[in-house]
Amino acid sequence: MKLAPSILSADFANLARDIRLLEEGGADYIHVDVMDGHFVPNITFGADTVAAIRPVTKLPLDCHLMVEYPEHYIENFAKAGADIITVHAESTPHIHRVIQLIKDQGVKAGIAVNPGTPIESLIHVLGLVDLVLVMTVNPGYGGQSFIPETLKKIKTAKELKEREGYTYEIQVDGGIAEQTAKQCKEAGASVFVAGSYIYNAEDPKSQMALLMDAVS
Ligand code: DX5
Ligand code: ZN
Repeated sequence: MKLAPSILSADFANLARDIRLLEEGGADYIHVDVMDGHFVPNITFGADTVAAIRPVTKLPLDCHLMVEYPEHYIENFAKAGADIITVHAESTPHIHRVIQLIKDQGVKAGIAVNPGTPIESLIHVLGLVDLVLVMTVNPGYGGQSFIPETLKKIKTAKELKEREGYTYEIQVDGGIAEQTAKQCKEAGASVFVAGSYIYNAEDPKSQMALLMDAVS
């Protein structure tokens, strides 16, 4: 099981400090939520932010692009030091090409799906990706409530993986806390993104330990 804390709920004026804290707390990836104000109604970081935080940590930077036409930004994020680039199935008509672009950059490729998008619609690209991100909230903001119907989609992603021999990790993102993480683990998830659960706690490091215990 892996923990991928999201810096969306960090103190943006103290990003380096808040990333070190995640490293000390045993994070596996640093999840970077990139929003463009078009694909989702919020604006956050760009490739320059990724370049700025790259020297702060050795952990893989797991960049979740919630942007329209991600094909325009792949090279910039790869050059900035992204280790995983995840793009939304809904964000471009050319998802297959975008996945190829990511892999051409020597970066791991992920595909994300909104709660309303069926996993089955990814069938022709599932063999190409390193990670499938099942969104467990509608993307755009931290601190939203987990959508229980998404559990079925995690199960589908797991069943397809086993049936076809695919190698992708199954990541969940949104509303993740101890109980919801447990449910997602039972459904087949292995990488857990959490933002507000960690950063809103008085002691983020022990909060991370609690979450890892819940899924171990
Ligand atoms: C939502 C983002 C998430 C978000 C999760 O659009 O993709 O990564 O930060 O935040 P929490 O854990 O607070 O739901
Ligand atoms: Zn995310």
